[in-house]
Amino acid sequence: MDTKNYYITTPIYYPSGKPHMGHAYSSIVADVIARYKRLEGYKVYFLTGTDEHGLKIQREAEKNKKDTQKFCDELSEKFKELTKILNLSNNDFIRTTENRHHKSVEDLWNKLVQSGDIYLDKYKGWYSVSDEAYYDDDEIEEKEGLKISKLSGSKVEWVEEESYFFKLSAWNKKLLDVYKSNPSFILPVARKNEVVKFVEKGLKDLSVSRTSFSWGIPVPKNNKHIIYVWLDALTNYLSALNYPDVSSDLYKKYWPADLHIIGKDILRFHAIYWPAFLMAAKLPLPKRIFGHGWILSDEKKMSKSLGNILDPLDIIKNYGIDQLRYYLIKEVSLGNDGNVSLENLKNCINNDLANNYGNLCQRVFAFLKKNCNNKIPKNTSLTNEGKLLTNKLKKDIKKLNEFINEQDLNNYIKQVIEYSFDSNKYFNDSEPWSLKKTDVKKMNSILYSIVEQIKNISILLLPIMPISANKILDIINVKKEHRNIGEIDNNKSLNHDKELGNIEILFKKVE
Ligand code: ME8
Ligand code: MG
Repeated sequence: MDTKNYYITTPIYYPSGKPHMGHAYSSIVADVIARYKRLEGYKVYFLTGTDEHGLKIQREAEKNKKDTQKFCDELSEKFKELTKILNLSNNDFIRTTENRHHKSVEDLWNKLVQSGDIYLDKYKGWYSVSDEAYYDDDEIEEKEGLKISKLSGSKVEWVEEESYFFKLSAWNKKLLDVYKSNPSFILPVARKNEVVKFVEKGLKDLSVSRTSFSWGIPVPKNNKHIIYVWLDALTNYLSALNYPDVSSDLYKKYWPADLHIIGKDILRFHAIYWPAFLMAAKLPLPKRIFGHGWILSDEKKMSKSLGNILDPLDIIKNYGIDQLRYYLIKEVSLGNDGNVSLENLKNCINNDLANNYGNLCQRVFAFLKKNCNNKIPKNTSLTNEGKLLTNKLKKDIKKLNEFINEQDLNNYIKQVIEYSFDSNKYFNDSEPWSLKKTDVKKMNSILYSIVEQIKNISILLLPIMPISANKILDIINVKKEHRNIGEIDNNKSLNHDKELGNIEILFKKVE
């Protein structure tokens, strides 16, 4: 079997309002990993989409006096547009209102019925429409006369109705076994520990259908009931691979998923319900669920009422998409909450991009144009410093791979930008301009090392800043098929005969 396949997903977002920075963040994170794995030689399937059923969406459409499907069509389109604006490399965009998904959810439901994991009873308890989640009594508190969830802070309402249940309690021990036998099934570890603690307390059966509204997928053979929106939504990861057609190419190649990227708010659904559903249906479990932290603005959660929302579209318009992608990955350590601000974004663009990587490329290309016939010199007798510089990066590849495979994107990028800093320093310290009349051979060898380093840094930056890094690789005439991790150790990918392309300012400094 081909093991070089990789399946990565984002959450499917509720199209209940415009996409915001948090959505952009999860999608960019997943895209960076997807792009890196492709550069590593994997066949990657990268999925994103929208979660369109449930009471939350139905009510939002009613509030806007729109037909529900129309409402979803319009807002889902905004999320689809965002994938283009963010320059995501997703292979598919799934909508839970699509027929392929409907079929898939029905099949999974039937599997759960066949395995004896579904029974009919009555639900009595709290429900948050905003989270589309059931909460226990001890998870509820009262604030300003309102009952809210302690976990999410959102309003809950009392529900009493006939409901199908999933025998979640029966999977309690099996789930704990999964967490134990696969220590990186849930990451980061601190969040895994919370899940384990919660499951150790004992799981209750889960209500998986509702009868009080209509916007969703009906329970097969009892369409008075609508399937719980989370059972519906989680199945998207399978529907996109043509499930229930398990002999289809996509399913065979890509299930189980390698990585579900999600925010910490929806860890319970992914780390508890999802594996339990899958085990009950006798389907393999995803390999990893990574629950990243919260993007904060001015140290607080972004909210309309606080007026601290950073609109990704505004930022991209004013500063550029590569700049935003670089900033988010660099600034926020994936497992933790991270503060973002315009101030820091500007500093990051100026320090890391304009003054560091951008400046390196700019001055080196200008030097080659002026002193080397606008061509990359051949690698004759490298200096020790030059060798040290380029070998360090090559030796680090294993470590860089590990950073990505552990979803430590933040340390990956810090390492890569350091190579650029070191290259700039080498250029300054070795003063190639002073060698033009005295030692052209040495001058050439210095320039050779730096260009090789620029090539390798740019390859490493491709997953994060695909547009800018490709521009640099265009300028130095690196062939498309050489733009991958395997080429980093291959000096043949530099072309010494062709003149460099035109230099342009890649990263403008910002005020
Ligand atoms: O929960 N910081 O959809 P949703 C970081 N439809 N990430 C954030 C964020 C923030 N401030 N705000 C949102 C749903 N996110 C379900 C998912 S999956 C089968 C169904 C990101 O529109 C983060 O990934 O509420 C979070 O988990 C997700 O958006 C929630 O998006
Ligand atoms: Mg939400």
